[in-house]
Amino acid sequence: MSIFKKIFGRKSSKPKVVEIEKEEVTVEDKKIIVEEKEIKNKTMSEKIKFTIDGKECLAERGQNVLDAALDNGIYIPYLCHVRGVKQAGSCRVCNVKVAGRTMTACTTPVAPGMEVENNTAELRELRLTIIEALFVEGNHFCPSCEKSGNCELQALAYHYQMMVPRFPYAFPQKKVEADNSKILIDRNRCVLCKRCIRSFKDENGKSYFAFTKRGHKLEISMDKEIAANLTDEKAQEIMDTCPVGALIKKEKGFDEPIGSRKFDKQAIGSDIKSVV
Ligand code: FES
Repeated sequence: MSIFKKIFGRKSSKPKVVEIEKEEVTVEDKKIIVEEKEIKNKTMSEKIKFTIDGKECLAERGQNVLDAALDNGIYIPYLCHVRGVKQAGSCRVCNVKVAGRTMTACTTPVAPGMEVENNTAELRELRLTIIEALFVEGNHFCPSCEKSGNCELQALAYHYQMMVPRFPYAFPQKKVEADNSKILIDRNRCVLCKRCIRSFKDENGKSYFAFTKRGHKLEISMDKEIAANLTDEKAQEIMDTCPVGALIKKEKGFDEPIGSRKFDKQAIGSDIKSVV
């Protein structure tokens, strides 16, 4: 007598086997559904809740306050930050307040429950002061600058309704370098944001740009060999990445007339839309 008959008092039949097989498939299906739900819940729980000026926001784990704000449709002004590129925290335009402390939004990771102050009179004044300081420390003659209308520093000055800086102009002596075949470097306009140093590297990780000299003489320089082999596309990318008119693609001057450029048509930050 089979073990089955001993226990159940009858022979195992074929239809029963079919039923068991069907049940196993269903269990497997259920398992998959449960796993999918778990993955979904895990993804949701990985989002961090925090607030900016009292508005509830969500951030990815490890995301910085600036990127998270932009993803939530909130504009925090910035100058040196480039999304996806290692932050430098060099311009301080993105200053916000967290727990009473002023900190740069681009270098501060979001923490659960964090309360960020952004659009306050104090922070607006602080940012305006920084922008004024950047103007007086360089030689920014907007009416004759190739980047006018596409310049983020100029657009930020308009954003904060800067009229005349409150500080004396330094009128520093800065060199213009025009011997590269594709890129003109005008150090009069450089705000030392390091965007170019951080954004452009060759296949060996060597940066196209570097800082040379020290202190108030610090300036941007381009690797001569890389500069000699630059493509038109890369030169354009470099010009577009520079927030001001310090790196200009040669032979393309004023292709797009002033008055119809990016910030001539829309104020800086006005294109930030909520994607949450
Ligand atoms: Fe954060 Fe420049 S954008 S310090």
